[in-house]
Amino acid sequence: MISRSTIDRVFESARVEEVIGEFVQLKKAGSNFKGLSPFVDEKSPSFMVSPVKQIWKDFSTGKGGNAVSFLMEHEHYTYPEALRWLAKKYNIEIEETEQTSEEKAQMNERESMFLVSKFAKDYFHETMLNTNKGKAIGLSYFKERGFTNDTIKTFELGYCLDEWDGFTNAALAKGYGLKYLASTGLTIVKENKQFDRFKGRVMFPIHSMSGRILGFGGRILTADKKAAKYLNSPESDIYHKSKILYGLYQAKKEIAKQDNCYLVEGYTDVISFHQSGVENVVASSGTALTSDQIRLVNRLTKNITVLFDGDAAGVRASIRGIDLILEQGLNVKVVQFPDGEDPDSFAKAHSTTELKEYLEDKAQDFINFKVSLLLQDSNNDPIKKAGVIRDIVTSISKIPDGIKREVYVQECARIMDISERVLFSELAQLLKKDIQEKNKIAKKQQFSQQDPNEPPPEYFLEQEQAQMGVVKGKVAIEKIDQLSILEKEIIRILLLFGNEEADFIEDIENIDEDGRVTITHKKYSNLVSAEIYVQLQEDEIEFTNTVFQNIYVEIIHHLNQFQKLDLDALINHEDKIIATTVTSILMDEEKHQLSNWESKNIYVTSALELLPKLVNDAVFNLRRVLIGKKIDELVKQSTEDVQIDLETIKNYTGLKMKLFRKLNRVV
Ligand code: CTP
Ligand code: MN
Repeated sequence: MISRSTIDRVFESARVEEVIGEFVQLKKAGSNFKGLSPFVDEKSPSFMVSPVKQIWKDFSTGKGGNAVSFLMEHEHYTYPEALRWLAKKYNIEIEETEQTSEEKAQMNERESMFLVSKFAKDYFHETMLNTNKGKAIGLSYFKERGFTNDTIKTFELGYCLDEWDGFTNAALAKGYGLKYLASTGLTIVKENKQFDRFKGRVMFPIHSMSGRILGFGGRILTADKKAAKYLNSPESDIYHKSKILYGLYQAKKEIAKQDNCYLVEGYTDVISFHQSGVENVVASSGTALTSDQIRLVNRLTKNITVLFDGDAAGVRASIRGIDLILEQGLNVKVVQFPDGEDPDSFAKAHSTTELKEYLEDKAQDFINFKVSLLLQDSNNDPIKKAGVIRDIVTSISKIPDGIKREVYVQECARIMDISERVLFSELAQLLKKDIQEKNKIAKKQQFSQQDPNEPPPEYFLEQEQAQMGVVKGKVAIEKIDQLSILEKEIIRILLLFGNEEADFIEDIENIDEDGRVTITHKKYSNLVSAEIYVQLQEDEIEFTNTVFQNIYVEIIHHLNQFQKLDLDALINHEDKIIATTVTSILMDEEKHQLSNWESKNIYVTSALELLPKLVNDAVFNLRRVLIGKKIDELVKQSTEDVQIDLETIKNYTGLKMKLFRKLNRVV
């Protein structure tokens, strides 16, 4: 676990504009930088970075945050991965805490395995490009398969010479320990002899999502029937076949952008698709899909399209594994290739446009596909058909979303020509069983701990929700009630001007001996945040929107403790919803700079002059709506024949009138 002090140092050193500058071309715009959104294709910039506030915001997707969250969004790093990346960039030594010496040793062990794997990747790549044998054998093999230089570079393909220990000796000469050559499986050590596992094979390095080398696949070049066509790294501390998707590192951006992931079987399928311009593709490397692999995709998109080779046997074999994808709440489509073709050969034989068209035209919803496939098999045999129904309902029962389940039941009933009732009752039984099993598992899982360095899995969802409620899109805005809008305005003022001093005016009512009311004004100076706090406290106002309420509580906490508001603490708050919401509100303020039509300085001075009015209006507006609501409630109760004190309503109405007058509004 990364120590608190290291995390603090990372946050202190990281400059958001420098970090983002490595991925996005930024141009100065006023006090900010702007650029093209790295998350969607666009022509005019909607992406903005504020060096002053150390935050960023992408107006086309609603994403935003600090340097760490940028790396998590853009590079799809986990929280610790992002911290490590930053630590490396800023030369900060990472201090680990709470590690036993055993854990430390294991960590160093893994680190050494990563290092030797990286060396191997570079060595095989260099060997192929720069030695005579490498060029004549390895490179010419890939060229023959139609791979371009760019493709070879992107996938860092290589060649291991057909010598017994050429690679092993090179690694030892460079000081890499035999221990790690053996534990990664790159070298096979037998008695006193050692030789290269991948001797004479072309090499496909396998990257983690963040680009580290986990292992290799090596393809034989001879047509030797006895030797395996592909040889993979053995399972080790860094290579877990079931948790790896080949090509994910090269595909992740495009998967997120296209919001879909193509799943193929082999290394060459991935590479050919990539070369054909379909980059959102990964391979399960010839094995049945695992839930860990699906989880990897789930970080990027909710949509998977599984591509099947042309042979029918393969399809039937892989169909079972797909329930696993449904179970994780992803949407599954399938595309079947023509007889005898696999994605690789199809991509080679067709143009990019043809390939893309084929993928779009042939994509079929998985459940529908399964129904028609199984029905074909059952040949109208009633017993077989009963089996098919059970099978299909099992698939449907895996879908976590109830509405989706219902739609599928209706559709399947139609296709299979049976009543919905039968399907629903079958489904209900399965669900009941499922729930019982899940409860059992959940009980077990309570005992297994979560890595404290990882943000909770809800992170992405929460972020989405926070954006929905506060910034994203028209639809979401419409859903927000009036109160939320007014509450947001108060938070906005607090965030932007909370630490400013302003002159406020207090109305003092004087009643003279004749009963006449005169009002005198008293001027006083106060911190904006303190003023808002006092005014809201008067009515004991609580925010209805929980996110705003939480932010407000934080701000008040700062005020009480430090007599001022600490913006950095909010931007880097460990509660991701708070951090994202605050970032969004701050950056919305800068949005006009994207189109250069306002000079910031003028805006700020005028805003400062209007500050007292801004504060008063915001607070009064909120009070007015709250009181309005209260009156409505009371009136409603009184029509419902509940004993209501008319005086109460009158008091509230009087208060409302007073507030309206203060707001200079005509009722
Ligand atoms: N595979 C493997 N070990 C094997 C055979 C296959 O790991 N002995 C994996 C590889 O990831 C391979 C995938 O399964 O890419 C699909 O296998 P296959 O269809 O036989 O290979 P292709 O990808 O078509 O390879 P090529 O086109 O090079 O023959
Ligand atoms: Mn093939």
